[in-house]
Amino acid sequence: MRGGAIRYTVATESPGIKRAAGGRGGSKAERAGPGMKFFVDTADVDEIRELVDTGLLDGVTTNPSLVAKTGRDFFEVLKEICALVPGPVSAEVAATDTDSMLTEGRKLAEIASNITVKVPLTWDGLKACRALTQGGIRVNVTLCFSAAQALLAAKAGAHYVSPFVGRLDDIGHDGMQVVAEIREIYDNYGGDFGTEILVASIRHPMHVIAAARIGADVATVPPKVLRQLVSHTLTDKGLAAFLADWEKTGQTIADK
Ligand code: E4P
Repeated sequence: MRGGAIRYTVATESPGIKRAAGGRGGSKAERAGPGMKFFVDTADVDEIRELVDTGLLDGVTTNPSLVAKTGRDFFEVLKEICALVPGPVSAEVAATDTDSMLTEGRKLAEIASNITVKVPLTWDGLKACRALTQGGIRVNVTLCFSAAQALLAAKAGAHYVSPFVGRLDDIGHDGMQVVAEIREIYDNYGGDFGTEILVASIRHPMHVIAAARIGADVATVPPKVLRQLVSHTLTDKGLAAFLADWEKTGQTIADK
């Protein structure tokens, strides 16, 4: 763990130290890259449009419940989202057997080149994941609730695995502990698993912070939580004071 005193410890040696000693990311300099990615967890096109404008968005995740909320045609919604967002857009299959998942997954992948097909973490889902991945389709294995499941998703060649932290917390488990365990396991194999940890079911800003401290690759964040991340009462108060003092100077910067 990069942060030091964090309660999600899973080994006597912290994952951060393991990485520095030859784990997936190597030293901090070697890990230099896009850093933690932010996806937004919604199928609401207007919300996405607004957030794309911030330049902070790396992708989108949807699920059948989020699509149902829009009351719109699934394919239309996905087409619009894929055109708006340059990064990966997760679209979930509704089938439960491997063959039907493959048919649906291939159809979804045809929508746009940035579609990631989401399959559930079941035996059928893992088989579909393997076949889709071999066919060059990026797969997000969703509804992951344990490190054991995440290990299987990685073995099946998933591009992303989605541990649902909020839903684990809801039943009295520790969602972030599972994320920490997955991080440790993946890092133990020095990048052999190409699977990224996509922390899902995020409920509040502290989930995002904990995911970042553990070194998760992606956090998929509901729009409301994304907005909460930026706001701090002391920022508002400080800005108001600066502006009031500036006003007293009678100066303008733009006119200089
Ligand atoms: C992730 O891909 C899922 O869409 C999502 O994070 C589920 O979150 P929820 O538990 O808030 O429904």
